[in-house]
Amino acid sequence: MKLRIPEYIKEIAPYVPGKPIEALAREYGITDTVKLASNENPMGPSPKALAALQHVMADLHRYPDEPPYVLTRRLAEKFQVADNQVVLGNGSDELLEMLGRCLLQPGDEVIIPHPSFLMYTIVARSAGAVPVMVPLKHMTLDLDAMAASVTPRTRLIFVCNPNNPTGTVVSGPALAAFLAKVPEQVAVVVDEAYFEFVRDDTCRSGMTYLADDPRVVTLRTFSKAYGLAGLRVGYGVMAAPLADMLHRVRMPFNVNAPAQAAAVAALDDHEFLARTIANTHQGLDFLYAQLNRRGLQAFPSQGNFFLIDLGRPADQVYEAMLRHGVIVRPMNGYGYPNTIRLTVGLPEENQRFLIALDAVLAGESAS
Ligand SMILES: Cc1ncc(COP(=O)(O)O)c(C=O)c1O
Repeated sequence: MKLRIPEYIKEIAPYVPGKPIEALAREYGITDTVKLASNENPMGPSPKALAALQHVMADLHRYPDEPPYVLTRRLAEKFQVADNQVVLGNGSDELLEMLGRCLLQPGDEVIIPHPSFLMYTIVARSAGAVPVMVPLKHMTLDLDAMAASVTPRTRLIFVCNPNNPTGTVVSGPALAAFLAKVPEQVAVVVDEAYFEFVRDDTCRSGMTYLADDPRVVTLRTFSKAYGLAGLRVGYGVMAAPLADMLHRVRMPFNVNAPAQAAAVAALDDHEFLARTIANTHQGLDFLYAQLNRRGLQAFPSQGNFFLIDLGRPADQVYEAMLRHGVIVRPMNGYGYPNTIRLTVGLPEENQRFLIALDAVLAGESAS
C-alpha cells in the first residue's frame, strides 16, 4: 500500500468482539444459539424503551436533537451535576475515543491495567500514545503500581471499575488514596460500564470525587444493565471545561434519535432495572455453586460476567461449545489461556451453558 499510514496505527491489534449469533447460524446452521459472550442484558431491552421507540419512528427523516437536550438533562438530574458536565456518546466506546483525541498526542503515556477492556489500548495507540500496561494483582487493579508508573509523560489513566474481564472492584477509599497520588495534569477515567451490578458496598462511583477533583471522568453505558447495546448510548460525567473540549471533537448527531428516546425511557424503567439486577445476582450465585460442585474455579465478580478457569486450553472448549450452540468468550487475548468469560444469562440459558460444558468436558476426557 502506497498510502502513508502512521506506524502507530499499523501496530493496532484489531478489536475482536464476541462471536455474533448470526455467525453461528451461518457457520454451523444452529438457530437456537445462547450468547453469553459480550456481557449483554439477557432480559432483552427495557419494555418502556421499546414503547418509546414506536413514537420516534415517524420522525426518522429529521436529524436528532443535538446535543440531546432531554437525555442530558435527565442524566444531569440523576447524578446532580450541571448539564454541561454530561457528554453523550455512541456507546461509551465513543467517549473513550473522544477522550483520547482531546487528551493525547504522539509520545504521551497512558496507564492501562492488564488485563482490562481492550479498547483502552486501541484508544492510546490511535493517538500515537504509548500504552503502559500495569499487571493486575490478585485479579484486581494494582492502584499502587499504577500510581508508581506515572511519569512526566503520563496524560491519562484508565480505571475499570468493576474490571472487565476479572469482575473485581477497587474500593472508595482505595480510589481516593490513588487520586491523591496522581499529579494534576493527568486525567483519570473511571469506566463504570458495569456499576449497576455492584454488590460490594465499599465501592464508590468516580462521580463521588468529581466535585473536588476535576481530573476524574466517569463513564457509564446503557448497553449493559439498561439492555440497549444495539442502540449504542453511553455517557461521561466530567468537569465542564473538559466536557467542552469533548464537544469540540464530537461528531454532531452522534447519538441517534431512537437511541435518545429509548435511553430516556429506560432511565424511568426502574422495574426492568431491578429485574435485570436480580437475575444477574441470582444467576451468578447459581452458576458459582454449580461450577464449584464440578471442581472448577469461578472467580467472584461484581459485574454481570465472571471468569472460569477450566484447567485446560479454553479455545478448544470454546470451539466445542459453539457446536452445542453456546457462545462464551475465550480469554487468550487477555492473557488467560485456560479461562473463559461467561456472561450471566436467563436461568434457562445458564442451564444450557452447564449442559454444554458438561458434554464438552466429558467428551474431552473420554477422547
Ligand atoms: C469496561 C467496558 N467499558 C466500555 C464498554 C463499551 O460499552 P458501550 O460502548 O457499549 O457503551 C464495554 C463493553 O463491553 C466494557 O466492557
